[in-house]
Amino acid sequence: MTHTVNDIRAAFLSFFEGRGHEVVPSAPLVPQNDPTLLFVNAGMVPFKNVFTGAEKRPYSRATSSQKCVRAGGKHNDLDNVGYTARHHTFFEMLGNFSFGDYFKEEAIEAAWKLVTAEFGLAPEKLLVTVYHTDDEAADLWKRIAGLPDERIIRIATSDNFWSMGDTGPCGPCSEIFYDHGPHIAGGPPGSPDEDGDRFVEIWNLVFMQFDQQEGGERVALPKPSIDTGAGLERMATVLQGVHSNYETDLFRTLIDASVELTGRGAEGDDAAAHRVIADHLRACSFLIADGVSPSNEGRGYVLRRIARRAMRYANVLGAEEPLMHRLVPTLTAEMGGAFPELVRAQVLIEDTLRVEEERFSDLLTRGLKLLSDETAKLPGGGTLPGEAAFRLYDTYGFPLDLTADALKRQGYGLDAEGFDAAMAEQKTRARAAWAGSGDAGADRAWLEVASEKGTTEFIGYAHERAEGTVVAIVKDASLAETAEAGDTIAFAANQTPFYGESGGQTGDSGTAETEGGARLRVTDTKKKAGVHVHEAVVEEGSLRVGDTLTLRVDHERRAAIKANHSGTHLLHAALRRHLGTHVVQKGSYVGPDAFRFDFSHDGAVGAEALDAVEAEVNRVVRQNAEGLVRYMAYDDAIKEGAMALFGEKYGDEVRVMTLGRDPDDETKPYSVELCGGTHVDRTGDVALFAVTSEGAVASGVRRIEAVTGEGARAYLKGQANAAIEAAAALKTKPEELAERVRALTEERKKLEKQLTEARKKAATGGGGAPKAEAVGDALFTSAVLEGVPPKELRGMIAQALKEAPNAVAAFIAVNDGKASVSIGVGDALTASHPAPSLVQAAVTALGGKGGGGKPDLAHGGGPDAGAAQAAIGAVRAMLG
Ligand code: ALA
Repeated sequence: MTHTVNDIRAAFLSFFEGRGHEVVPSAPLVPQNDPTLLFVNAGMVPFKNVFTGAEKRPYSRATSSQKCVRAGGKHNDLDNVGYTARHHTFFEMLGNFSFGDYFKEEAIEAAWKLVTAEFGLAPEKLLVTVYHTDDEAADLWKRIAGLPDERIIRIATSDNFWSMGDTGPCGPCSEIFYDHGPHIAGGPPGSPDEDGDRFVEIWNLVFMQFDQQEGGERVALPKPSIDTGAGLERMATVLQGVHSNYETDLFRTLIDASVELTGRGAEGDDAAAHRVIADHLRACSFLIADGVSPSNEGRGYVLRRIARRAMRYANVLGAEEPLMHRLVPTLTAEMGGAFPELVRAQVLIEDTLRVEEERFSDLLTRGLKLLSDETAKLPGGGTLPGEAAFRLYDTYGFPLDLTADALKRQGYGLDAEGFDAAMAEQKTRARAAWAGSGDAGADRAWLEVASEKGTTEFIGYAHERAEGTVVAIVKDASLAETAEAGDTIAFAANQTPFYGESGGQTGDSGTAETEGGARLRVTDTKKKAGVHVHEAVVEEGSLRVGDTLTLRVDHERRAAIKANHSGTHLLHAALRRHLGTHVVQKGSYVGPDAFRFDFSHDGAVGAEALDAVEAEVNRVVRQNAEGLVRYMAYDDAIKEGAMALFGEKYGDEVRVMTLGRDPDDETKPYSVELCGGTHVDRTGDVALFAVTSEGAVASGVRRIEAVTGEGARAYLKGQANAAIEAAAALKTKPEELAERVRALTEERKKLEKQLTEARKKAATGGGGAPKAEAVGDALFTSAVLEGVPPKELRGMIAQALKEAPNAVAAFIAVNDGKASVSIGVGDALTASHPAPSLVQAAVTALGGKGGGGKPDLAHGGGPDAGAAQAAIGAVRAMLG
């Protein structure tokens, strides 16, 4: 067989597949099951909980080629990379795993068979190590591989006792070494010169037997298990008969591309630069593909450090144009077959690297100038003061290791303690600044947490479940170490899948629990001083700072929020297309049940336009186009037409959300917005979009309320049900409902009129107007009318006053036990008997207050309809 990197990976996996192992794809580099790890750094990490028995899988044997990054944290190889034959920031670990199935014998037998029979390595070139007390392993090597005692080396140190980290599964191990031969310097494992290149470890077989607990105790795993790890790059080096991992086919291809683009050969000092670039290209690309983006905190900062280190070496090679992003297609061609995520994320990787490089190039030039000015002041071999290194970090974005590396190449040292002191001093200054800012109680506590422990990381774009370590608890507005069942608290974890309320999007809710039995209900999540603050109720057990929590976002609720958030973006785009580009978002609220969107626009959005907007949003939803997230420079995003909102101060780098395609030109995106919120993966996940209301909020600002997904279905169904019920009550079909209601309304009006006429007639004795009587100087007409609308009284008064200039008419309408009185006075009597004073008398009799009008016509009313005749009597008395 040929031994390209891709061949070796495939051969390894199929060998174990043939032995009943499940071929498991590499897990993402960001661990989903371990908050103590920055990155997956061994093949067994994704299986950690399977070893301990906490998680069950449908298989008891597995094999994988796992992506690993060792940079930052416990296993940190960054400084060495480029200068040694075998160090990498990113590498692949081939492994076979037994979860309580086979143990030492089968593991040794399989490994020996694969390296000798399949890969064809000469047995006499191989030797092994075992843990010094592990006689069983030593005997098996002798029996299965026929190795003589001198090639089975017993090692007493931790080199042969493997552990994942400070906690987790562990056990004695046995390593297979390849001997390159006496012409290479170096001694066998365990000897003083073991670090030479002659003997190279190619495979580590771990006999997993224990689970290392926090606090030092080791407990036995439920069943003895197997975890093995063979670095694919090392294996390729041996099988391809070369001495450095960088001479294998994969790295040669990457280095050739770097040579071609820079025009500088991989010789002398430049060789290391090309190696750094090739290695870091892999780490950066895979990290970005797995959702990490450059930042100044946590994982994002490790990515930034690796990227910037590579960029400095591109600068060493004289590259004038950004280099890294142009190497991505070569990497994708080499590794995209085994890792399709590289292909899927290619655009994202290229954009991210280009932006990072463009941003950094100017700072790099200026920073290197400052550095050379500083070193010029030093004697040969001198030490750069920590304060200068801090300035490079703070002002020019030079990670400390980049400065150290640049100094090392010129033979200078670095005052790392001075750097730490300068950093601490800056934090103290920042704290003093906010101490006087007047923030009270809990908010102040969170500022303190942010300053002491840094901000917390949101890893919820890709995950809804993750583990996090509790970094702070706030109880009764102050920091606490513990919380007990029944407490209402706020807590923060170093990382969380919970979205903290911001940009109009509601915070997530869900649950959190510890292995120690604490159960919490998370009711809301907010962002305070860059810290994700979970508001929670401890329902069971107790929680301590330092505990590991499994955090679970309420999936249904999050899915609904995502659909609504994407709904606002689609609505925004549709409004701009249908009403004009004066439409700009003024505010929004995105919840699980509905969303509202405020925007600038004069006057109501007509029904027709609203309908067109709704139809178009649904059309884009049905495209089911993939939502695309990119990180890019703010200016580039704006150039691409992204909508920035609220004049927010974004950092230089922004997250850009693209949704849907322009229905008139499928090559163009439909909605492009800067946004930090969570969104649907595909527009189809919005499912259905419906506007529920449109109205004014302020002058020139309109508000649309809308629903998506199940919310939209329920809303539309509710509307339909109401129509169906109404139609049934009217004994018609829903589609004829409007016509029927119009007809009924007309009919009702007509009937009301007829009824009034009939009542008037009845009250006035059937003769139209009631009989007039002479009272004093007046010709007085009066009546009490049951069930006649008060507004009818006016017409009757006008009628009565026509009779004579000395006519006076007083009518009382009685409805629902209340009385309304209207009195008209003819011209001849308005001076002696003005209508308002007559009304006063009636109102008083009716138990009411007020009333008034003009001398010829006045109105009033009162609650005591039973006194209507008495009220008429009072008016009569005034006239008489
Ligand atoms: N987990 C073991 C290692 O990383 C195999 O070496």
